[in-house]
Amino acid sequence: MMPPQASSLAGRVDGLFYTMLGLSVAVVIGVFVTMIVFAVRFRRGRRVDRSGESHRELGIELTWTLVPFAMFLGIFVWSALLWVDMRTPPADATTIYVVGKQWMWEFQHPDGQREIGILHVAQGQPVRLVMTSQDVIHDVSIPAFRVKQDVLPGRYTELWFTPTRPGTYDLYCAEFCGTDHSRMGGAVVVGTPAAHARWLAAHAGGSLVDRGRELFTRYGCAGCHADHSSVHAPRLDGLYGSTVPLADGRQVRADERYLHDAITLPAREVAAGYAPLMPSYKGRIGESDILALVAYLKVSGTARETQHESR
Ligand code: CUA
Repeated sequence: MMPPQASSLAGRVDGLFYTMLGLSVAVVIGVFVTMIVFAVRFRRGRRVDRSGESHRELGIELTWTLVPFAMFLGIFVWSALLWVDMRTPPADATTIYVVGKQWMWEFQHPDGQREIGILHVAQGQPVRLVMTSQDVIHDVSIPAFRVKQDVLPGRYTELWFTPTRPGTYDLYCAEFCGTDHSRMGGAVVVGTPAAHARWLAAHAGGSLVDRGRELFTRYGCAGCHADHSSVHAPRLDGLYGSTVPLADGRQVRADERYLHDAITLPAREVAAGYAPLMPSYKGRIGESDILALVAYLKVSGTARETQHESR
């Protein structure tokens, strides 16, 4: 009845699910058995004592209040801990960028492999998906991994998993997104590490960072942001991960979300000390190109620039 358990979190999610199911069934049985027994015992015409309670049993009241309270609070703590783990990708996870659009999924690997609809990953290697949509709200759902996450236009959402079993698993769009929503499916192909390395080698293209560097020039970003530029624009070297003071006094962390919005909504978070000169590229650069630019900006200007981005 259940899909296979094919990720490191699947067993834990199922454990929580079955525990909650078991607890709920126990409560339902308890309530219904009591109800039926009382309905039969106190039915009309039956000679029984109907005088009501004569004294209070504090012990019983405390027991039936505190025991379920402790059980359900335990479920809360358990699920909260699991939720935190599901939201916290391991440090060594490979970042794969995902763009959803009516009606397909596009995946971009750090070393430049791009695929539509099918996602290739390696057994045992944690994967972090950074996802956005080019049009409406979509939702990535991989039942065998017990993961699911909305994919929103104008925002990056994340999902991570570690596949544990080689095989091919269904991937669905789980948010109604138009005519062909039901066909906006795909698959995740989990290979052994060796098979996955062969796949990566066979499909190598220019890395995402290389493509981002090329786009950085093609869209004219370098015209203002390069060292020798005459325009007073923020330097982008080493920007990623730093804290940026804004013109309105706030401070923001230069993460993927910030870099994305700086390209599409530049007037919203103007860096302190700079005029709001940057034009908006919203609608002029596709989301997958923005992802490549972000990947480039994440490594540009640091010693790691020549390496392939792996996080
Ligand atoms: Cu995309 Cu439903």
